[in-house]
Amino acid sequence: MELKTTTKAQVDALLDRMTLEEKVGQLSLVNCAGGHVPDWHREAISEGRIGALLNAVDVDTTNELQRIAVEESRLGIPLMIGRDVIHGFKTVFPIPLGQAASWNAEVVRTCARIAALEAASAGVNWTFAPMIDIGRDPRWGRIAETLGEDPYLMGILAAAMVRGFQGDDLTKPGNIAACAKHFAGYGASEGGRDYNTANIPENELRNVHLPPFKDALDAGVATFMSSFSDLNGIPASANELLLKQILRTEWGYEGFVVSDWASIPELSVHGLTANDKEAAYEAANAGLDMEMASSTYATHLSALVQEGRIALEQIDAMVANVLRAKVSLGLFEHPFTDPAAFPAIANPEYLEAAKYAASQSAVLLKNDHGTLPLSKDRLQSLAVIGPLADDPKEQLGTWIFDGDPHYSQTPLQAIRAFVGDAMEVRFARGMETTRSRSSDAFPEALAMARHSDAVVLFLGEEAILSGEAHCRADISLPGNQETLIEAIATLGKPVVLVVMAGRPLPLEAIVDHVDALLFTWHPGTMAGPAIAELLFGTHVPSGKLPVTFPRMSGQIPIYYAHKNTGRPPTPETVISIDDIQKGAPQLSVGNTSFHLDAGDTPLFPFGYGLSYSAFQYANIQTSASEITLGETLTISAELTNVGDYEAEEVAQLYVRDLVGNVTRPVKELKGFQKVRLKPGEKTTLTFHLHTDDLAFYNRRMERVTEPGHFHVWIGGSSEVDLRSEFSVVDVE
Ligand code: BGC
Repeated sequence: MELKTTTKAQVDALLDRMTLEEKVGQLSLVNCAGGHVPDWHREAISEGRIGALLNAVDVDTTNELQRIAVEESRLGIPLMIGRDVIHGFKTVFPIPLGQAASWNAEVVRTCARIAALEAASAGVNWTFAPMIDIGRDPRWGRIAETLGEDPYLMGILAAAMVRGFQGDDLTKPGNIAACAKHFAGYGASEGGRDYNTANIPENELRNVHLPPFKDALDAGVATFMSSFSDLNGIPASANELLLKQILRTEWGYEGFVVSDWASIPELSVHGLTANDKEAAYEAANAGLDMEMASSTYATHLSALVQEGRIALEQIDAMVANVLRAKVSLGLFEHPFTDPAAFPAIANPEYLEAAKYAASQSAVLLKNDHGTLPLSKDRLQSLAVIGPLADDPKEQLGTWIFDGDPHYSQTPLQAIRAFVGDAMEVRFARGMETTRSRSSDAFPEALAMARHSDAVVLFLGEEAILSGEAHCRADISLPGNQETLIEAIATLGKPVVLVVMAGRPLPLEAIVDHVDALLFTWHPGTMAGPAIAELLFGTHVPSGKLPVTFPRMSGQIPIYYAHKNTGRPPTPETVISIDDIQKGAPQLSVGNTSFHLDAGDTPLFPFGYGLSYSAFQYANIQTSASEITLGETLTISAELTNVGDYEAEEVAQLYVRDLVGNVTRPVKELKGFQKVRLKPGEKTTLTFHLHTDDLAFYNRRMERVTEPGHFHVWIGGSSEVDLRSEFSVVDVE
């Protein structure tokens, strides 16, 4: 309370002394790439015309920029210095989608913590993360940056990421402001094409897309970024429903909202406004506080105030939102960075954390006949094949502005180090890139495989195939990879496929050709040691899919929390295109909701992931068959490790609300726990469900829990059988 009063007094005192130009300056976030301070920036900062910069990452530069701001500008207001620190700074962790596959909030928090420390040592005090757009379209390149398809999982991990970046007190050195982006609906871009239109009914927006943002806010996220995209006809950067009604009025947010890169002038490109001035007017009126990269605010806000179209009080409120963030970051007291006060970049502790995160993120999708783990004792030789086996850069993934491949340890290096002299490890790249269409290098790879006891393939997608603006219409394995896999499979050797990629891939065409399949996403700096230790069984895979894997691109969107429809498919009604009799009558093909050429199921469901061990779920119990609104239900089940390895399992709790004022999903994740069990060990899993956890937005946009009947499941994936039920009744 005391801090709040002081902050308000400090902000009010500054506002009293600021000219209109200085106020507008605080609303301008200017690009500063290139590692030096151009004269234009020097002058503008000293005149108070720039309040924040992005893309300055050299500590001498950031200190010099702050010095100009605090010593040369009239009011000495320090700068926010922003950067996209998305999954690491110099030490690179798995892409966010990979981190989500760990289902481990502590892993996600630690990755963000280390990224914050490394970035802060360069003078960065603000990151544009977490990216918490629901990712249900793997064609969209930015799915790599999301935390998956599910609002509940994403909300928990988003909060963990915010805590990692911001720590418990933003004023402490090493804590940097986080940014919840892109508010909102960006993940629903049509056709998975980046920057495209999003049409989302309001109750769907509130039930699915907004909850992770609310969770980030509840975790204390300092800033929000608006989305590029058009939401229901009003681009997010001028969308009052989002930026005013929901964020400020309903949620009580007190921080500032920054635009995305040039998303204010793009309002005119969308066709919402006729020119930059009107775009600035619309954005400011909608509640957007700071402009990134472009200069419509700098050019037009003062005139809009002078013409009486925007009230000065409104500008003051926007500036106060920004100044409060600067105060809460402690920038007025500590504007400068002493890199010597921070641990070394990419130090052994950070690398160990990166290895652990990569290990926790890998998902074992197939393992026939116990192919994995590989045994050093049983194999004399191993063929390591593929363009991603020994490429220090590609394993880092998308959005790694500062990531340094020089620190990378590749799978080939790590496997060689791991087996030492015990095994001969041969390497052939097989393809120049993952996109190569040539088979010229296949003979060498095949010869190597033929003369080895087992083959490990490193395939998937290079980093450039996912990320912003890197969308794909057909997301199957690119280039000639499927042909290479098929050719290797004919040799009859045990084949392990390790896939690095920035999105789920429909691997149906090749999954039968390999004995084991480990999906590692882009694992980051320590990909090599993490993968080697999983392949040889030092660690047991424990990741689970945070997103559904389709069988083929045409099934997209496909996600577990879908609606039931009026005609849900059943095994009896799903008919394959190959089984239709010639001349069969039109109505003989089932009349339920599925594809003739893909059926109705995904290749691998949300929540799925194997272990070298095996787990059995039994005996689901609820503490009551009926609870009253406001009460908590306890649900328990027994989990036993029935395999041979000590291992971790992610136990998941799902619920279905059978009847609603608006239709409800067939299943919704409501809890999860990652537990470690020894072989033969049994534990009782306990989940608590408050009736408020069952609330949803109804057709009147009220958030309610409706009395009624519910199904509840506990199991190891969203395709789960162990079910109980309960009812919720109204208060007497
Ligand atoms: C992206 C944002 C990012 C910004 C700054 C934009 O193109 O959409 O996510 O934070 O650039 O680099």
